[in-house]
Amino acid sequence: MKKGKKLYEGKAKIIYATNDKNLVIQYFKDDATAFNNQKKTTIEGKGVLNNRISEHILSNLSQIGIKNHLVKRLNMREQIIKLVEIIPIEFIVRNVATGSITKRLGIEDGTVLKEPLIEYCLKDDELGDPLISEEHIFAFDWASKTEIDKVKKMILRINDFMIGLFRGVGIKLIDFKLEFGRIKIDGKNEVILADEISPDTCRLWDSITEKKLDKDRFRKDLGDLIPAYTEVAKRLGILHEQSNVSAVNITKLSSVKRKKK
Ligand code: TMP
Ligand code: ASP
Repeated sequence: MKKGKKLYEGKAKIIYATNDKNLVIQYFKDDATAFNNQKKTTIEGKGVLNNRISEHILSNLSQIGIKNHLVKRLNMREQIIKLVEIIPIEFIVRNVATGSITKRLGIEDGTVLKEPLIEYCLKDDELGDPLISEEHIFAFDWASKTEIDKVKKMILRINDFMIGLFRGVGIKLIDFKLEFGRIKIDGKNEVILADEISPDTCRLWDSITEKKLDKDRFRKDLGDLIPAYTEVAKRLGILHEQSNVSAVNITKLSSVKRKKK
């Protein structure tokens, strides 16, 4: 597999072409942004952890039949993924109210929702990813009714599965963001899960202490982010031997691995 030219650079990832027109390389950067890029920094080792955590979750989801773009992890920072046409919608899934919804609707932080709530935001940084309704999606043809029906079914299964996965390791899945993409498989149009699932895109609270183990540590200046992401990776059984792995160690590990190749 040959790495080709950069096709796209987002806030946290870069996509590179490969010599296979159907596959691309997804590179996880250390950049962290919040509030639509108004707050930004670089956190050494974040990309390595997100790459591993996202690989773990997406491969587990494949095993329960949720089709997704992951082909395989290449190294500490990169994965081979299927090239999809991203649907321009961020699908937000909430089990507990926190973050933007509490401010928007005056809901008390930490309110457990009666059932999972799916919200749609238009994926447009210049507009600040505005909240939209299903009617907007159909009126402007951002996705078809069939696609949204399929996506909603997948989202509820993903949510159930991830709640269980995290509950098993003492973490509450509060909310998260998903993206989906269009792809032709055996001549058939399909919608599959894309992007990443990591502490950058989920809110994860320790089940007992409610300590935030996600990007809110950066958004709200709650203190070190790497130990929290490392904790998530360790609990998921991703980091075994390197139990006290630091950001610097992670980065060293990644360069050792690259040199060996
Ligand atoms: P919110 O409360 O800020 O709307 O965020 C809801 C969830 O979606 C939270 O887990 C963070 C995630 N999210 C992203 O991954 N990317 C984004 O651009 C936004 C706004 C939220
Ligand atoms: N990812 C978004 C940004 O960079 C928002 C967020 O995750 O809070 O601004």
